[in-house]
Amino acid sequence: MVIVCWSVKGGSGTTVVAASLALTYARRGAAPVLLVDLAGDLPAVLALPEPEGPGATDWLAADADVAAQALERLCVPVVDGLELIPIGSITHGDVTAGRWTEMAGWLAARHGTVIVDTGAPPDPALVAVATTSLLVIRPCYLAARKAARLQPVPATGIVLVTEPGRALGRRQIESAVGVVVIAEIPLDPSIARAVDAGLLAARLPMTLSRPLGRVA
Ligand SMILES: Nc1ncnc2c1ncn2[C@@H]1O[C@H](COP(=O)(O)OP(=O)(O)OP(=O)(O)O)[C@@H](O)[C@H]1O
Ligand SMILES: [Mg+2]
Repeated sequence: MVIVCWSVKGGSGTTVVAASLALTYARRGAAPVLLVDLAGDLPAVLALPEPEGPGATDWLAADADVAAQALERLCVPVVDGLELIPIGSITHGDVTAGRWTEMAGWLAARHGTVIVDTGAPPDPALVAVATTSLLVIRPCYLAARKAARLQPVPATGIVLVTEPGRALGRRQIESAVGVVVIAEIPLDPSIARAVDAGLLAARLPMTLSRPLGRVA
């Protein structure tokens, strides 16, 4: 199973959602969980030391003769049942032809749950293998407009990070983007504090675990 998390605007909460979903699946212990970092913040959100070796972007930019199996060697442990492929060092978008399709195929064939934080809208090859593609968005008109322009919108569901005092609600976001909201997460200072203190993995706030538990 492959779950892709992405957004159309910076700071929406995508990495926090991807990390929290992975921790939720890992706690269930049903099958191994792999997080793939294509945006760069997952080690910090999970309070891991910054990985030094190669990562996903090095593999994407490598010659075609570097096999998909090499991705296995990039995995670093996070907690019991959860591993991470870090972003790596080549973050300027160089991708060898055919690599997205090859990576997507490897991820789809992997036993257990794979969660990919792509940051920006995902490559079509990842969307093609995704069981779930989650657009993480605030109730923001500019973000909804940007998402709606991606025709077709490559999402199977929206995770709405709700903010008090906004004019737009769930219904308006659903109709603007044309995708259903499958979870609502409040903008909660205790979530930001847990991330800042490096405690997200140790103590997932209820305001995240409850809505995401229903998605997972
Ligand atoms: N539900 C929430 N409530 C409060 N703060 C949150 C919530 N979700 C995320 N944050 C905080 O908002 C900031 C941005 O979160 P995050 O890095 O997950 O967003 P992002 O969409 O991945 O951003 P980027 O575009 O930089 O990748 C962080 O400081 C995080 O702690
Ligand atoms: Mg991020």
